[in-house]
Amino acid sequence: MSSIMPTYNRLPLSFVRGHGAWLYEANDTAYLDALTGIAVTGLGHCHPAVSRAIADQASQLVHCSNIYHIPVQEALAERLCAVAGMNSVFFCNSGAEANEAAIKLARLYGHQQGIESPAIIVLEHAFHGRTLAALTATGNATIQVGFGPLVPGFVRIPVNNIDALDEAIQKHPNIVAVLAEPVQGEGGVRRLEDAFAKALRDRCTTHNLLLMFDEVQSGNGRTGSYFAYQQLGFEPDVVTTAKGLGNGMPIGACLAKNAAAKVLSAGNHGSTYGGNPLACAAANAVVNTIEEQALAARAPIIRSLILDSMLSALRNPNPIEAITGQGLMIGLAMPDACPEIVTLAVKNQLLLNVTSSKVIRLLPALTLSDDEAVLIGERLAATIDHYTQRDAG
Ligand SMILES: Cc1ncc(COP(=O)(O)O)c(C=O)c1O
Repeated sequence: MSSIMPTYNRLPLSFVRGHGAWLYEANDTAYLDALTGIAVTGLGHCHPAVSRAIADQASQLVHCSNIYHIPVQEALAERLCAVAGMNSVFFCNSGAEANEAAIKLARLYGHQQGIESPAIIVLEHAFHGRTLAALTATGNATIQVGFGPLVPGFVRIPVNNIDALDEAIQKHPNIVAVLAEPVQGEGGVRRLEDAFAKALRDRCTTHNLLLMFDEVQSGNGRTGSYFAYQQLGFEPDVVTTAKGLGNGMPIGACLAKNAAAKVLSAGNHGSTYGGNPLACAAANAVVNTIEEQALAARAPIIRSLILDSMLSALRNPNPIEAITGQGLMIGLAMPDACPEIVTLAVKNQLLLNVTSSKVIRLLPALTLSDDEAVLIGERLAATIDHYTQRDAG
């Protein structure tokens, strides 16, 4: 029996090294990685600029705490705020922690305006993490079971329903913010409809609420711009990110603009590790690489290469009901629950996953070559064909 708590259903695979789009077992079998550690290694495994930054920083200073000024953290803050169009940032260690910071910021914003019991609007099918407040904000009852009492102060509405949004704001005068993923990831790889996203911005502005986007999964170049909201034509008041920000080094960030940037002050929030020199050195290398090489622009190109190669290799009729998502958040909605797809893909030496039980999800790297993108499409088609044949036979 393993000494590790059994919180994960693991595949019978283990990797000892990675390079670019490839992961290798100890016997050197190579797998094409279309999942990138769940949207984390967006620059590919062991990107040389990131590995060099980590090695250099590790030989200088790994940790000193936020009791002191950390120049590499300040450099990252400045760069990230400039890229995001935000004014200030709080650094932490994960996506859930970034959302906890946003939730605390929103509550304090409410209290500062005399709202005793502030509440936040969240969406059905949302995923915001596994800590208690983030879990409560998450719209998936299955993963909340057994962890009650959950945290009060959340009002849930259906996705893309502007009437429900207006009704919630009218019914709950204590609403202080809306928290939403511009492209839902775990909940089925779905973009918010433009009209709904715009309504979120309009209502937040009109009612003095904070619009908080969770870009933990969609950020860092993945959807075709550094943050997905940059294609919507407006900014949120708060944006959270993590995953791709460190390319594997644990780091999270909660960025804020205008009034929201001034809510938290000394003693309000903190993290021992948050923004430590090692994590910030890695993240600086990530942000600089994405920006200098204009990698976000590759996302729609790679998406088309993968999907075109898959569609031309798939036998017809194929079972895919819808192709969803944006850039390198790719969802293939299947007619029924299809957990077997994951192990069939492994047989084709392709790594992907299935979310919301029937959506095949690909989150490949922004650094894929054209040939690697085409190969992912071919292996994906072979996997889906195997799955369809299995069903038939
Ligand atoms: C949109 C979103 N928010 C938050 C999280 C939680 O991030 P972490 O696992 O780093 O806490 C995830 C993780 O999948 C996510 O996709």
